Amino acid sequence: MKKHLYILFLLSVLFPVYGRSQQIAEQKIETVLSKMTIRERIGQLNQLDGRGIHGTVEQLKELVRKGEVGSLMNITDPKVINQLQEAACKESRTKVPLIFTRDVVHGFKTMLPIPLGQAATFNPDLIKEGARIAAIEATEHGIRWSFAPMIDISRDARWGRIAESFGEDSYLTGKMAVAVVKGFQGEDLSHPQSMAACLKHFIGYGAAEGGRDYNSTYIPERQLREVYLPPFKQAIEAGSASIMTSFNDNDGIPATGNKNLLRDMLRKEWEFDGVTLSDWGSVTEMIKHGFAQDRKHAAEIAINAGLDVEMSSKSFIQNLEKLIAEGKVPESVLNDAVRNVLRLKYKLGLFEQPYTDIHKPTETYSAKHLAVAKKVAEESVVLLKNDNKTLPLSSNIKSILITGPLADASHDQLGTWTMDGETDKTQTPAKAVASMYGDKVKIHFMPGLTYSRDKNQSSFDEVLRIAHSVDAIVVFVGEEAILTGEAHSLAGLNLQGAQSELIKQLKATRKPLVTVVMAGRPLTIGREIEQSDAVLYAWHPGTMGGPAIADMLFGKAIPVGKLPVTFPKGVGQIPIYYNHTNTGRPAKGNEKSIDEIPLNAKQSVLGHSSYYLDIGSKPLYPFGYGLSYTTFEYTDLKIDKTKLNKNDTLSVSLKIKNTGEYKGTEVVQLYITDIVGSVTRPVKELKGFERLELKAGEINTIHFNLPVSDLAFWNIDMKKTVEPGKFKVMVGTNSETGLEANFEVE
Ligand code: BGC
Repeated sequence: MKKHLYILFLLSVLFPVYGRSQQIAEQKIETVLSKMTIRERIGQLNQLDGRGIHGTVEQLKELVRKGEVGSLMNITDPKVINQLQEAACKESRTKVPLIFTRDVVHGFKTMLPIPLGQAATFNPDLIKEGARIAAIEATEHGIRWSFAPMIDISRDARWGRIAESFGEDSYLTGKMAVAVVKGFQGEDLSHPQSMAACLKHFIGYGAAEGGRDYNSTYIPERQLREVYLPPFKQAIEAGSASIMTSFNDNDGIPATGNKNLLRDMLRKEWEFDGVTLSDWGSVTEMIKHGFAQDRKHAAEIAINAGLDVEMSSKSFIQNLEKLIAEGKVPESVLNDAVRNVLRLKYKLGLFEQPYTDIHKPTETYSAKHLAVAKKVAEESVVLLKNDNKTLPLSSNIKSILITGPLADASHDQLGTWTMDGETDKTQTPAKAVASMYGDKVKIHFMPGLTYSRDKNQSSFDEVLRIAHSVDAIVVFVGEEAILTGEAHSLAGLNLQGAQSELIKQLKATRKPLVTVVMAGRPLTIGREIEQSDAVLYAWHPGTMGGPAIADMLFGKAIPVGKLPVTFPKGVGQIPIYYNHTNTGRPAKGNEKSIDEIPLNAKQSVLGHSSYYLDIGSKPLYPFGYGLSYTTFEYTDLKIDKTKLNKNDTLSVSLKIKNTGEYKGTEVVQLYITDIVGSVTRPVKELKGFERLELKAGEINTIHFNLPVSDLAFWNIDMKKTVEPGKFKVMVGTNSETGLEANFEVE
């Protein structure tokens, strides 16, 4: 404690304003702490669930009065929240308020697209707005701590939780993470509409072997630091109030018991002063991992490793008193953890205003919130294909068939982690197209299949009869929300049920066929894309998915989304991601396919390069890919210097022309390649993106500033350094296509 106050004293001398308010807060924390018994302190670290599994509301109140609970999950009735808060603030000895928590992952009631869809917008400002509305709606219901954003780098579409992620790239994920933190937490965390963010899952959970949820990971330190950690670090620098440990063991150490990670890196190296929280039961799951003997041992490992709050598994409240008495857990370790929790409560302003104002007019589902949700949904849609300018539907089209199991799936389009989303508020494409465009086109609706896994083709004949009679067909396929998310990994990524067959039969009508995919992950839909004239990838687009897609079909909205994750041709290509390192024998692109291999071919005729005989080396679509209804031409790439020193900034400019017929926005992406390093370097790395809106025919110049310091990486000596040498910069429309220039760092 003395050391603590000394640091604060130093801070206040060096930075008087920061020092003063911080010092007052820390003094208050010390005062509160000094009045608490050991058991009451442990209570602050105990997070329980309010849905009944840990007792009725009355039983929870009793625990709160005794000071045995610090935060409560999953209660969303502000009246109940206020009652429990009263038990804490008026009826407990310590009067320390509770925090109420929830997984507000992509919206509270007004659901935004799933995070993977949000990442496809490449629009952090918009995502910040989305997070803001989520915070406004959640705090109105008493929630002040959200378990989001999930910023696990996800390179494996089999993993169901890829839906909750911002995709495969650290740079993009970092930008989105910061946007969500700022949107949730607002300008001032103590404002009643601000909600603490929780970065999860620390660390490496998305690299679960085989894409099977909860599986072990094997990420070496360099890759952790290069790929998995940067978004967490950036979001912490942006002020994230908390961080959640992950379920997985990385290289043999479960994250919840990883002292190097939680103490050495997070606290010492990054100077994080927020709360560390376990995942649900991840403290006692260390027993199943074979890392702890029993619950008591698990508690000892976790708190000594640097975990503050235990979610749901109660081993702290049951064992820490004994562990402290036995000298296995120093009291100072307990006190530090409690300080972190009290600090969060102070920052949230809960000591001054613990209650939720239930008389405040509601903003939930306000027109503004629905408009933001629609905008995010629009910008998340990725146009994968548009042969013969099938989209937007031309004014010559007088009748359409809307079909497919996802056309009117109010539950599924909300996606995974929609704890509070309501299907009766969901606007589906089938209904939206009818209500918004029903006066312009005759609309027939017949789903053909009732849900994505449905194999019953009995209504196909009727669907096809209508299909033959209309001018165009829009088929909504994909996956149900339940096939994505936590513990919903898949070994195969083809369309489920009879959806492929439906597309095949619709294609046979020779009517213009637009396929809209609503899914929580990349699906291996190469064949269905070939059979379609146009394809929109709409993810699970949330409450306003219907109007967003309707406007896109009819040209009122123009696609702008780009893929935040590489789409594999087949599951066997996974892991496949754009920023891999090179082999000594990279694929050349002209490899023989399996059908071209001559009979009795000699071992060497295939050329010894790194690819799959049956599906090659290329993905179905690369990271960053996405078309528009218009087209863009990139010319005149210029860099201001070709030789730079380590303190310089490279200025990059180029011209972009809208060469099509519609106004459109292009997400222009900047990638670099470090040609030679003391360790092998990724073939490409995203280092910037900018949006440019252009009218048809308009031309404009776009600028990027790339500080040389952004070229730093964890070198052979595990130091973050810019190594002198040759680099390439590419600016383009996706990670595979662009204009290039070379420069050198001296
Ligand atoms: C998930 C977390 C989530 C927690 C609380 C866990 O199963 O892994 O992401 O925040 O439950 O709902």
